[in-house]
Amino acid sequence: ANQEFTGNLKREVEKLFDASLRLTVPDGTSVETEVAASLPGKPGDYQCNNAMGLWSVIKGKGTQFRGPPAVGQAISKNLPVSEMVETCSVAGPGFVNLVLSSKWMAKSIEKMLIDGIDTWAPTLPVKRAVVDFSSPNIAKEMHVGHLRSTIIGDTLARMLEYSKVEVLRRNHVGDWGTQFGMLIEYLFEKFPDTESVTETAIGDLQTFYKASKSKFDSDSDFKEKAQKAVVRLQGGDPIYRNAWAKICEISRTEFAKVYQRLKVELEEKGESFYNPYIADVIGKLDSKGLIEESEGARVIFLEGFNIPLMVVKSDGGFNYASTDLTALWYRLNEEKAEWIVYVTDVGQQQHFNMFFKAARKAGWLPDSDKTYPRVDHVGFGLVLGVDGKRFRTRSSDVVRLVDLLDEAKTRSKTALIERGKDKEWTPEELDQTAEAVGYGAVKYADLKNNRLTNYTFNFDQMLSDKGNTAVYLLYAHARICSIIRKSGKDIDELKKTEKLALDHPEERALGLHLLRFAETVEEACSNLLPNVLCHYLYDLSERYTSFYSIHQVIGSPEEASRLLLCEATAVVMRKCFHLLGITPVYKI
Ligand code: ARG
Repeated sequence: ANQEFTGNLKREVEKLFDASLRLTVPDGTSVETEVAASLPGKPGDYQCNNAMGLWSVIKGKGTQFRGPPAVGQAISKNLPVSEMVETCSVAGPGFVNLVLSSKWMAKSIEKMLIDGIDTWAPTLPVKRAVVDFSSPNIAKEMHVGHLRSTIIGDTLARMLEYSKVEVLRRNHVGDWGTQFGMLIEYLFEKFPDTESVTETAIGDLQTFYKASKSKFDSDSDFKEKAQKAVVRLQGGDPIYRNAWAKICEISRTEFAKVYQRLKVELEEKGESFYNPYIADVIGKLDSKGLIEESEGARVIFLEGFNIPLMVVKSDGGFNYASTDLTALWYRLNEEKAEWIVYVTDVGQQQHFNMFFKAARKAGWLPDSDKTYPRVDHVGFGLVLGVDGKRFRTRSSDVVRLVDLLDEAKTRSKTALIERGKDKEWTPEELDQTAEAVGYGAVKYADLKNNRLTNYTFNFDQMLSDKGNTAVYLLYAHARICSIIRKSGKDIDELKKTEKLALDHPEERALGLHLLRFAETVEEACSNLLPNVLCHYLYDLSERYTSFYSIHQVIGSPEEASRLLLCEATAVVMRKCFHLLGITPVYKI
């Protein structure tokens, strides 16, 4: 049979073994097909591991088989005839090893080159998702934790979007809460003519925040005023609403600078957006009998937690949890999202676990994880400085994100100038490359780690052109592009007229890795782990190097085929860069 490649190689292999197992297994025995990519150096490209488990199920039932290897033989023999398969054999206690046909592999890659890499996009079981990320707090510092959230959230959104999911990219800005009382009062005091206040007048909102906070802590009259201001603001007094809007606007302009530099798109729906719905949502939970009184507050008791989840404070006000419950309700019911992903530091894990649990108790969500509608807290670790402590800059205790990104760019520009690129390139080229490399380095250094671990922010390391860095990968890509350019061949013409062959082991290994792109993206999506894609990308460049260091491309008899392989590698690398939010470069 002709097997059309849908992109996910592992799934295609699973389908073959599914069919084989249905023939092999006596009726009524249900089996879940166990297929895994074979480890490097092992025979075969994929292996089916069902024989041993199956044997233990059927041995007592008068089976004709004489042990697991025989079951393996049957699985192998019953495999449908497919042009995908070169050979299938059984090893050891019953491992069924499948070797893919190199010819089929080559053909599938050729097809991708013509139809485009989007034809390899995974299909996920959801239509619409919310990714709640970045989410800084108004007037407070947007710290490196928010930078991590922005980078990780953007990548997850990109991977889901590539997988044909409609993603609502939500900035759940902390724009509501008691801190606004003091900020507004302080604003009135400093700028009696509030209307004319501009960004430049306030200058730095963080300093402004600190000043108002110290006044709040030291001056009891001010404190009282601030507390009254909160009531007025929440009661909708236009003068207070205006002052609030002004402060939010100034913060927003600051945040936008970071997003613009990182090329991250986000739609702000801050905490204040959900405020009008909270009373209703709490009412719904109440009518289900979930809410109880406790020490003047209203809370939800949850199994497995030693403290209850507070949803109404003793003063009658709402809090972070009531807002999040309401936002969840809104996202599920109004926005019809089937998957909601929250990206924050792991320190907030308990908060998420608790309100997720409350939502399950209310029947808004299924009881088990990974069933839809699904919620996930994507936690991440701290950012540490080279000294091993929480990351700070020399000059201040606050790391200005904009300065950080500027420094990455400046450093990569300096490195390019040291290599004489300022003499080869136009100033624009130099600037764009420095930006792509500098920002790419910051993003990749963050994404390549398992997000749950703390990571050390180290400019020297992330900007090194050796090892697993964005710089190394971007250069690897640019080198491939330059080989194609140097050949003088029209690659689009080659795609149409020439054939790809994967005759040599290094060519084949590279081709196989290319074909594993989609299953990798799918895995990174379902486990919400961008580092899986980073590993894939790094592996890809290593495999390319193994191929290129042994085989001549330009001027060899296999030139056309090898140029196609170079092009396919470059296409997949670019897609990885795109999914990681990194701008590729074509020249080095
Ligand atoms: N503003 C919060 C913070 O800075 C993060 C909000 C995350 N999103 C959410 N829906 N709770 O810590």
